[in-house]
Amino acid sequence: MASKKIAVIGSGLIGRSFSMLFVSGGYQVSVYDVEPAQNAVAKDDIWSQLNKLEEQGLLRGSLSKEQQFANITYTEDLAECVNGAFFIQECIPERLELKKSVFAKIEKVMSPDAIMSSSTSALMPSLISGDLTHKNRFVVTHPTNPPFYAPATEVVPASWTDADVIEKTVALLKEIGQAPVLLKKEINGFVLNRIQYAILAETWNLIRDGIVSPEDCDVIMSQGLGMRYAFMGPWETAYLNADGLHSYSDRYADMIYGIQKDFLPPEKIGGETLDVIQRGMENVAGPVENLEQRRQWRDRRLVALAKLKAGMNKE
Ligand code: NAI
Repeated sequence: MASKKIAVIGSGLIGRSFSMLFVSGGYQVSVYDVEPAQNAVAKDDIWSQLNKLEEQGLLRGSLSKEQQFANITYTEDLAECVNGAFFIQECIPERLELKKSVFAKIEKVMSPDAIMSSSTSALMPSLISGDLTHKNRFVVTHPTNPPFYAPATEVVPASWTDADVIEKTVALLKEIGQAPVLLKKEINGFVLNRIQYAILAETWNLIRDGIVSPEDCDVIMSQGLGMRYAFMGPWETAYLNADGLHSYSDRYADMIYGIQKDFLPPEKIGGETLDVIQRGMENVAGPVENLEQRRQWRDRRLVALAKLKAGMNKE
């Protein structure tokens, strides 16, 4: 029978989320962390998160929270963690040399046909895997945080990644209820962050040039664009705003291009504009000392939105 074991390397924020996602799909997860104390913290936190998910009605899969919890085991031995696993999800800090050295250790003890997958937010797969002997078994699987409530997950292969690694990674993510997005080739920042940083760049310029306040940029996003973007992308928005995209182009292409040509180049974040935005965000979200309260406010809304969308997907 094919292995049902998945190894998770690093039991911080993302390692815990991936562990919970994998057990929700019926897999056995073995977690390794270089800091043994982190595993104990992770175990407690996972139990409390599983309880919360159950209360919210968002526990995934057909297993009870007790069964899911029991299917995660913890080890202080990397080889034991990786041994027999068909999929290895690395979730250690975002440092290139650290990731390279950990994958060099992993590939020595893994099954030759296992998949090595990295959670990296921004490191190119070719950079992490270029020196590996089994670099053809490597792929990036970049989640959106928090993965339970924001399921989009970027799958980014290097040019040498085997086709079956890509197919199996996408299939696994779908099976556990994530929304995989396969990039056809690697690019700096992947897709989610390129879009996010394009928004940061344009809003930065608009605030710097005194066109709009930071507070009102938030209104544009949360009460305007974001209302649609919670369930459709920019191109479906355009498609529906006319009679299809050719009609959209006939009506708006000249106007849009005229505005796009006005865009100013990005500026590195810092200086006076940053002070203005900091004050604006203090008005919106309260002082930095009290951010925990605001984070809980955000998380309650994310949960409500996830439930709304889960209900609507059944329509
Ligand atoms: P974290 O700091 O919460 O957890 C990292 C864990 O790795 C810690 O428990 C640490 O003890 C452990 N660790 C350090 N060196 C290790 C080693 N050599 N072997 C095994 N374990 C080791 O970090 P977080 O936020 O979970 O991030 C992990 C990865 O996920 C990073 O590459 C990050 O860029 C990426 N990511 C993070 C997101 C976020 O919002 N936090 C979102 C998407 C991706």
